[in-house]
Amino acid sequence: MKTDDSVIAKAKPFLVSVEKGRKYAWCACGRSQKQPFCDGSHSGTTLKPVLFKAEITEDVLLCGCKKTKAGPFCDGAHNSLQDVYEEAPDEEIASMQNAQTIPRNKGDVGKAMLDGGAYVLTPDLADANRNGTLSELSLITHLDGAKFLSFFQLSAGAGQSPWRLHKNGDSILFVVSGKGAVNIEGEKFDVTSETGIFVRKGEAFRFEAAEEMCAMMAVCPESKEVSWPDQPSGRFDRETLIRSVAVDDTKANAMADRFYQVLVGEEIGSTEVTQFIGGVPKSRAAFHRHLYEEAIVILSGVGVMWTETRRAPVKPGDVIFLPARQRHSLECMSGEGMRLMGAFYPAGSPAINY
Ligand code: FES
Repeated sequence: MKTDDSVIAKAKPFLVSVEKGRKYAWCACGRSQKQPFCDGSHSGTTLKPVLFKAEITEDVLLCGCKKTKAGPFCDGAHNSLQDVYEEAPDEEIASMQNAQTIPRNKGDVGKAMLDGGAYVLTPDLADANRNGTLSELSLITHLDGAKFLSFFQLSAGAGQSPWRLHKNGDSILFVVSGKGAVNIEGEKFDVTSETGIFVRKGEAFRFEAAEEMCAMMAVCPESKEVSWPDQPSGRFDRETLIRSVAVDDTKANAMADRFYQVLVGEEIGSTEVTQFIGGVPKSRAAFHRHLYEEAIVILSGVGVMWTETRRAPVKPGDVIFLPARQRHSLECMSGEGMRLMGAFYPAGSPAINY
């Protein structure tokens, strides 16, 4: 028998610990009984295993569906094996019937703590710190259990805000509303709602708002010190020329009946964080995990965030923190669907889950 067709060994990737310097042979044909590794069963087909050497000791996700274009690693192709994204099966829904609904800790605002340190947060504007036209709310930091990401909500009144600088971490901004420009070290980038902006570590930036702007900002690695220089230093990093990315439906990636578009990612030089915008139809995803730590902002639509034993309602403006590997499911209850923005560390593809 000669065939080029791989078969699906498993419709999800395999989580495997690899050791630095060790060589592995990933099964590309799907026929091995020793998944995800080759046992010689490709004999008689035209497919061959993919050999690779681990650069570092780490946990990796090796493709199980054999449809990846990034073999041996999962690239999220398993999400599109069917027309509909994997929904929670009936047994899973039944097993979650007694999940506890967690209220916010300050009435209508504040945190609802879920399992494993995950939470849903409705920002409390009373906690904002103000500097000139800029007010800032801290939403996720190491004090909330984050290991890598920090996450803020910034509101800039019309006019020029003070310069702001994070010495040790890249700042990845997402303009939720308003319009104007973000000035990075003297270089101006026009922005409107749903624009992603990439500021390199050590660069000062400010808002030049034509009308009040609201932006969410991930700083990664977390930069505990923020400075407010009187002037920009003029050290704009010319190695990274693309700094603003707008939503563009022609660049959206389909993932079954969902979509996502990476705004700030490795393509423009963001090696720590990936920022994306995504769309979810009315549905309840099956429980899954990611190897990355993530912040999600609900832009439109309502629903429920589920973890193993708890749930919390979500609505536009709410922020979700998900530690790496936390089992979760986001349910969208709106007929018109849900739109969300996510930022995660380490950088990669938002389609990769297990
Ligand atoms: S058994 Fe599948 S590639 Fe060798």
